[in-house]
Amino acid sequence: MNPEHLLIEQSGQEFVKIGGYILPAEDFNLARFLRDDLGVSWLHAGGIISTRQLLKELDVRPGMRVLDMGCGVGSASRFVAANTKAEVVAIDFDPEMIRRAREASGPRSNIRFEVMDVVRTTLPSNSFDRIIIQSVACFTDKVPLFREAARLLKPGGILGMNEVTWLQPPTEKVAKVMCATICETFRGALLASEWKETLHEAGLVEASHTEYPFDASTPYQILREEGVVKTAKVMWRVFTRPEINMRLSAMSDFFKKCPEYFSYAIYTARKPEAGAENQE
Ligand SMILES: C[S@@+](CC[C@H](N)C(=O)[O-])C[C@H]1O[C@@H](n2cnc3c(N)ncnc32)[C@H](O)[C@@H]1O
Repeated sequence: MNPEHLLIEQSGQEFVKIGGYILPAEDFNLARFLRDDLGVSWLHAGGIISTRQLLKELDVRPGMRVLDMGCGVGSASRFVAANTKAEVVAIDFDPEMIRRAREASGPRSNIRFEVMDVVRTTLPSNSFDRIIIQSVACFTDKVPLFREAARLLKPGGILGMNEVTWLQPPTEKVAKVMCATICETFRGALLASEWKETLHEAGLVEASHTEYPFDASTPYQILREEGVVKTAKVMWRVFTRPEINMRLSAMSDFFKKCPEYFSYAIYTARKPEAGAENQE
């Protein structure tokens, strides 16, 4: 179904009509909704499942230095630190995200959170084996972000990224519906070919990607990501706050009706080995 058909006008104002629900045709901040209204900590498409996929592709090993750029409340950073025994540095420019990330992590020796802009970090060049970017590049200037990642990676180091990806070029109306129904992040989404070109433009090489269907979290996935106590709290919020229930139902309906327009994709790209740029 073409999402444009979901855009309606009432009394001179635009709305998105999906299922039995009517949403204002305004950009929606999904990360804040997930964090503050729903109370969950995985703030990117695919949640723990996509982070597992990403880590598999990155082959993170004990002792490696890993940077999580735009870490949010640090769910993926903690997951990497706990499951790989790598040294993790995690940065976000929102002090509230970092406060919550530190609070949730407790005194863990192999993880450090810092308030920092991902485009202008004060971290030393050539200092990370792996970099993770999940649902952040859509919100930032892409080439400067990827150039900064390239600067921070050691030669031969790998960037792994999870970003929302258009499956076909959107019209202005399609983008408006997506941003109102799912997340304003779609303003900055690209086609997979464009994401890879942008990675190459920043000096990274061998960009590749795999697409996955964008889907709503099931209660079982939330249970695996958040544990029993937090899942019970999430469920309580869903059942007692109609506006949360409405938003989730509208999203879920949208995922079913318009899957051919968007996905999330996992990208990897490598920093060339030192001197490789001079080789024929
Ligand atoms: C959708 S959330 C994703 C958080 C986390 N990567 C995750 O997957 O759970 C986007 C995050 O990017 C951060 N962010 C956006 N632009 C940034 C920038 N220029 N510098 C640092 N953080 C940024 C936001 O504060 C937010 O925490």
